[in-house]
Amino acid sequence: MNDAWIAERMKHIDASGIRKAFEMAKSMKDPINLSIGLPDFDVPAPAKAAAIAAIEAGHNAYTVTQGLAELRAKIQADLDTRFGHSDRDVLITAGTSGGLLLGICSVVNPGDEIIVLDPYFGMYRHLATLAGGVSVAVDTYPDFRPDAARVEAAITPRTRCVVLNSPNNPTGIVASEAEIRALAELCRRRDILLISDEVYRSFCYDQPFASPASWNEDVLVVDGFSKAYGMTGWRLGYAHGPSRLIQEMAKLQQFSFVCAPSMAQHAGIVALDLDLGPQVDAYRRKRDAVVAALRDDFDLATPEGAFYAFPRAPWGTASEFAAEAIRHNLLIIPGNVFSQYDTHFRISYAVDDKTLHRGVLQSFGLI
Ligand SMILES: Cc1ncc(COP(=O)(O)O)c(C=O)c1O
Repeated sequence: MNDAWIAERMKHIDASGIRKAFEMAKSMKDPINLSIGLPDFDVPAPAKAAAIAAIEAGHNAYTVTQGLAELRAKIQADLDTRFGHSDRDVLITAGTSGGLLLGICSVVNPGDEIIVLDPYFGMYRHLATLAGGVSVAVDTYPDFRPDAARVEAAITPRTRCVVLNSPNNPTGIVASEAEIRALAELCRRRDILLISDEVYRSFCYDQPFASPASWNEDVLVVDGFSKAYGMTGWRLGYAHGPSRLIQEMAKLQQFSFVCAPSMAQHAGIVALDLDLGPQVDAYRRKRDAVVAALRDDFDLATPEGAFYAFPRAPWGTASEFAAEAIRHNLLIIPGNVFSQYDTHFRISYAVDDKTLHRGVLQSFGLI
């Protein structure tokens, strides 16, 4: 095939570094894999049963683009209690990723700037490129706290939106209420859309979760079932925000994803009633084990949520350190996958206790 057929924009989209790590893992025999960004628990049984029942009952056709009315109503009721906004609508999306794509494509014009906090979830920059925009990275090193003053310094007349992710992938940092509020108020004052990626919001270990939508009615929130319910392959998420923006996103969904998978939406109705306490407690214990094992030998900003830790490589670049880790059968992700810098590495502790023990207690001592 003629290479010239491939669009220019694809040259700016690099194959994910995480996928490269997975490729390397394939050649390793029984690797200690601390690279995977998804829960190690399975979909809760009642949600599985609801998906199977939906298939058996013949709910296999397209749903309406906005998503099943019952699922939307359940989410809307929760949003009304939490925020009490007069104009906050819900759109069921194909995962949080689907909501991010629809949101970014609905607001970004060619040449517009999107502020992302570095380190960032890689998809943000690629979606900015897809929309014809330019992502501007605002450094949060060394403590990874989101700082409204640093964000404000990066705002230009072309800035269209800021993307916030708390609890954070890859750092595990949970922004405080004061930090979130400062960003929410900054975006309102400067008339910029704030997109809040809340896919890890169930996983906060030390403090309650805070959403910027509490202080800014125009915030677009993207959220999803993948991480909370172990449903990463079911592609179920939702976005909520001002109805004008949600309408535009629904229009784009109609001509792209069409709808989120029907059986997953039926399962989502059931999943929302489930108690995630045991899963969160288990991950808090794993977080404590990781911090206890690494605290003395690594420079580590204490992770407070999600299921990641982001320590500084004790020698060399993070890529060199991760390559050496592979030689010791340990798979971790170098920070340059998430950042302009190659100084830190990501550990995912969403693994069984034996793997975690082998990884953080045995292997790190050898590298
Ligand atoms: C910060 C962040 N946002 C969004 C996603 C995508 O989630 P989903 O499976 O709901 O599309 C991920 C998945 O790794 C993530 O880490």
